[in-house]
Amino acid sequence: MKMRAAVLEQFGEPLSVQEVELAEPRTGEVLVRLAACGVCHTDLYTASGADPSGYAPTVLGHEGAGVVERVGPDVTLLAPGDHVVTLFSPQCGKCIHCLDQRTNLCLAIREQQNKGYLPDGSTRISRDGEPIRHFMGCSTFAEYTVMPEIALAKVSPEAPFEHACLFACGLSTGLGAAINTAVVQPGSTCVIFGAGMVGLGAVAGCRLQGAERIACVDLSPERLELARGQGATDLLLAGEETVEEILAMTDGFGADYTFEATGNVAVMRQAVEAARMGWGLCTVAGVAGKGETLDVVPRLLITGRRIAGSSFGGVKGRDQVPVLIERYLAGEIDLTPFVSHRIGLDEVNRGFELMEAQDGIRSVIEFL
Ligand SMILES: NC(=O)c1ccc[n+]([C@@H]2O[C@H](COP(=O)([O-])OP(=O)(O)OC[C@H]3O[C@@H](n4cnc5c(N)ncnc54)[C@H](O)[C@@H]3O)[C@@H](O)[C@H]2O)c1
Ligand SMILES: [Zn+2]
Ligand SMILES: [Zn+2]
Repeated sequence: MKMRAAVLEQFGEPLSVQEVELAEPRTGEVLVRLAACGVCHTDLYTASGADPSGYAPTVLGHEGAGVVERVGPDVTLLAPGDHVVTLFSPQCGKCIHCLDQRTNLCLAIREQQNKGYLPDGSTRISRDGEPIRHFMGCSTFAEYTVMPEIALAKVSPEAPFEHACLFACGLSTGLGAAINTAVVQPGSTCVIFGAGMVGLGAVAGCRLQGAERIACVDLSPERLELARGQGATDLLLAGEETVEEILAMTDGFGADYTFEATGNVAVMRQAVEAARMGWGLCTVAGVAGKGETLDVVPRLLITGRRIAGSSFGGVKGRDQVPVLIERYLAGEIDLTPFVSHRIGLDEVNRGFELMEAQDGIRSVIEFL
């Protein structure tokens, strides 16, 4: 079938919205009609050419929500009409990692996905016979996509698509960092560095876990106000003195839980230093630049601080994204402030510009 899609042709150039060909879903695959898709930093990172593992041509986008249109042979998990959220982090339910509660890093399709192929090593997207690769296994800057059934979470049809799509990446990452990775205990003190989609999700996650004190650190006063809306009790403008300020707030000890959601390794270090001796846990969600390293004084670890990394918030997507969406539908999370701009697919490059200008938290592409 023909569809419109935003193609990355050349690194550093605007995406080109054009007609491409999409083949039918094969065994274990599903054809999804996209309804909404968030524009994320990772899309821009790849489009810019900064991502060393990037490839082109490809259809970008990975924060999709939509409706199952058709299914290929042997699909058992989904049927036409189901509402779904795309998962760049799939859940096969069978691999050694899926069977273990300690991780969400499914091994089933990683290798092909990283190269831009569906699990059988080929693409469904093409143009005049030339294959176009899939991005993060999703390619949701398009009217339709074909994805493996294990990479789609079936969610409540009551969730508006523009909010459901947020759970495909940053929001679940932040919520899950607090709920799954750190397992924040009721009554504790938390500090979140960064108030973008991920950090704000972590603020909300700490609140849902019953944290008593939730401090948020950011460079932007507007973003700190959004953190207050998600449950932050203390707002700190970021600076050189941030760690001292947090120690002063906590009788000199530091916080029970700290979260890093900026991708800046200097901030990661602050997040470790702001964690409490004895049991403070620093959860790193930000993605650092290639080759950058985290500089930590080992004494901080010997005296009881721990550091954990968190990919997609440790969320096992097919099981847990639907549960998070139920909690949102029950009124536990307010997502209205997160959708700052609604744009059409043709305006996808404007979505990048808004992000670079830090104008709002998320631009969401709506498909008619
Ligand atoms: N682990 C994962 O699975 C996963 C998933 C999605 C995104 N990420 C990563 O998480 C990070 C955050 O993503 P986002 O979408 O929220 O980004 P974002 O750019 O919207 O937010 C980052 C925030 O950090 C703030 N910031 C910058 N420097 C700071 C400093 N010195 N101190 C305090 N705050 C500072 C910025 O003002 C901004 O509000 C990125 O590195 C992204 O790549 C990770
Ligand atoms: Zn994303
Ligand atoms: Zn698996």
